[in-house]
Amino acid sequence: MKTVHILTYGCQMNVYDSARMADALKPFGFSVVDAAADADLVVLNTCHIRDKAAEKVYSELGRLAEAKAERAIRGRPLLIAVAGCVAQAEGEEIRARAPSVDIVIGPQAYHRLPGLVAEAERAGGFGLDIDFPVESKFDHLPAVDAASATIDGTSAFLTVQEGCDKFCSFCVVPYTRGAETSRPVTQVLAEARVLALAGVREITLLGQNVNNYHGAAPSGPGDWSLGRLIATLAEIDGIDRIRYTTSYPADVDDDLIAAHRDVPKLMPYLHLPVQSGSDSILAAMGRRHDRAAYFRLVDRLKAARPDLALASDFIVGFPGETEGDFAATVDLVERIGFAQAYSFKYSPRPGTPAASLGGQISETEKSERLARLQVAVDHHRLLFNQATAGRTMPVLFERHGRRAGQLIGRSPYMQPVHVDASDRHIGRILPVAVVAGYANSLEGRIAMSSEAVPVPA
Ligand code: 5AD
Ligand code: SF4
Repeated sequence: MKTVHILTYGCQMNVYDSARMADALKPFGFSVVDAAADADLVVLNTCHIRDKAAEKVYSELGRLAEAKAERAIRGRPLLIAVAGCVAQAEGEEIRARAPSVDIVIGPQAYHRLPGLVAEAERAGGFGLDIDFPVESKFDHLPAVDAASATIDGTSAFLTVQEGCDKFCSFCVVPYTRGAETSRPVTQVLAEARVLALAGVREITLLGQNVNNYHGAAPSGPGDWSLGRLIATLAEIDGIDRIRYTTSYPADVDDDLIAAHRDVPKLMPYLHLPVQSGSDSILAAMGRRHDRAAYFRLVDRLKAARPDLALASDFIVGFPGETEGDFAATVDLVERIGFAQAYSFKYSPRPGTPAASLGGQISETEKSERLARLQVAVDHHRLLFNQATAGRTMPVLFERHGRRAGQLIGRSPYMQPVHVDASDRHIGRILPVAVVAGYANSLEGRIAMSSEAVPVPA
């Protein structure tokens, strides 16, 4: 038996892809190990979204190069593969900067990973595959099977859409993940049924622009929208919770809003990145929404599902951002009151239009704005968490807590909930009375006897 260790950076789609790479290698005799020291093959599944994410990869490659040299002396070779968005964006440059790398493979070529590994084992040469194939990798990767070691736990990701055609001026994704494609409905439903059989209770549908899903209909002509897909996934027994991420505001359609109204299994938490609260910055970013459109959209979503909690992404220090633009972002945070938000300093990415704009903001200024934005964001997250204290809500128990006898679950609003409860509740959804809300989590107790039957989410 050969062994592979996969190190995953970046987004949830990379987490999903890493599992699929493991699935693809399994028929070729590879089992997954937790430590690079035990592995014959190490795959770094990388992220290129910000400079910091990409640089981490090179420092890891430095460490791996030393391990590889030492292993060669001991006669147990180590193969190193770089996958993901840095592989796609930097291709051969990786080989130049890190000569110990054997394979560079882009996100659309993972079905060809076993072939490249076999080639590298046999010939020892360098393998590069960063083509965007005409056919989808999903037509060639092995189907997820219920016995797969990569289905782990009660909550799972399921990629339904990949790539992006929006070309926001700051973003590498259209270059690293390619054009928007959607998996056919039949493929998605089949994978969801397998996940349900394997004991998964919650699925998160993934896509860089997931709400522009338009997968081929199971029969007949035409495509399905994400809203229709969600309504059909909700009919699968065993799947009790559905989420999706990440959404592009201008592509939220009536079907999706209707799903928030009509599908109780669709959780009342939505990650809807706005990026900035300033119209002139939104225009310079090439976003297809302005501030007013974002507020209107939030109103429509909340009319459909009044308890909907919102999350967002923000970039501070985009080129040309004035103190007034930044104040508009803070104001938007104050008005919407996000339950969760991720904020980043603008990072110029090679090849993207914004990287060559005038008016680049200094690091000091970016850091200072980030800190100010985070104060506002943290404040609203705390308020949101505190507001759930006193309520009873269904919690999906996922794993052990740090203390013995403690479990961690998720509320419908994605809040981690700490509860004293027995192990046998892992994988169940039980009503929890929330006792307290903190900065990043809730504390609660099971609201009925431990013999209680699970309730729907
Ligand atoms: N600099 C900083 N943040 C970025 N993001 C995307 N590109 C950049 C960049 N060049 C952020 C956006 C996006 C999230 C995944 O990462 O907020 O929504
Ligand atoms: Fe990073 Fe974007 Fe690639 Fe995900 S898709 S790994 S966030 S660059």
